[in-house]
Amino acid sequence: MTREQYISQLEDASYRRDYERIIAFDNEHFIPAVRFDTAMFLMQTAAMRQPKNVLEIGFGSGASSVFIRHGLQNVPGYRITTLERDNNRYVRGQALFAELGISDIELIKCDAFDWLHNCDAEFDYIFLDAVKRDYIGYLPFIKKILGKNGILIVDNTFFNDKVLQPIDELEEKYRSGVGLLDRFNRTLASDGDFMTMMYNIGDGMTVAVRR
Ligand SMILES: C[S@@+](CC[C@H](N)C(=O)[O-])C[C@H]1O[C@@H](n2cnc3c(N)ncnc32)[C@H](O)[C@@H]1O
Repeated sequence: MTREQYISQLEDASYRRDYERIIAFDNEHFIPAVRFDTAMFLMQTAAMRQPKNVLEIGFGSGASSVFIRHGLQNVPGYRITTLERDNNRYVRGQALFAELGISDIELIKCDAFDWLHNCDAEFDYIFLDAVKRDYIGYLPFIKKILGKNGILIVDNTFFNDKVLQPIDELEEKYRSGVGLLDRFNRTLASDGDFMTMMYNIGDGMTVAVRR
């Protein structure tokens, strides 16, 4: 038996059902989503941190925002804002929330960079899960809007292990994106404003706490 099989015997089946329901909902086209273990990690970090104001960059299927919300059920007056530029995913997301009876996640159709340019709110939990090569470009905005002791969680920071390989051994089409993601990982890890750790969960989850 693998570790994953052992863990799946112990997990609460209702979370797995919730996850499958989100992934399977109106799944006409491929929809990117966090993995189940990542969704659980987000739920638990949200429950541990009890943030009041959550921002997600990259709504996708809705799995991550719904699981963050699961973690906030004891937080009075929490807010979750999630950004998605793809119209089909936005429309699907609205229908998903109607189906699940969720009215307290604000799904905004926009380009995240445009939105961030005009954002003057402060967040205490940010989940970044957009285009990997863009992560480095989000960092200045995140530093502006993530409050003291706020938490930044970033998905896919291994990028299917491509960041582990020498850049000149990668297929040409990946080189610049992987180079930018590697720059992001190293910049964040060495930024004294954050206490950062990269975890071997899913496709790599980086957690950075704002000092
Ligand atoms: C990996 S998926 C997110 C998966 C999602 N967290 C989930 O669990 O279902 C990344 C999403 O970010 C969106 N995205 C990428 N760049 C964006 C941008 N600049 N502004 C808004 N959305 C963006 C993509 O359209 C895509 O749906």
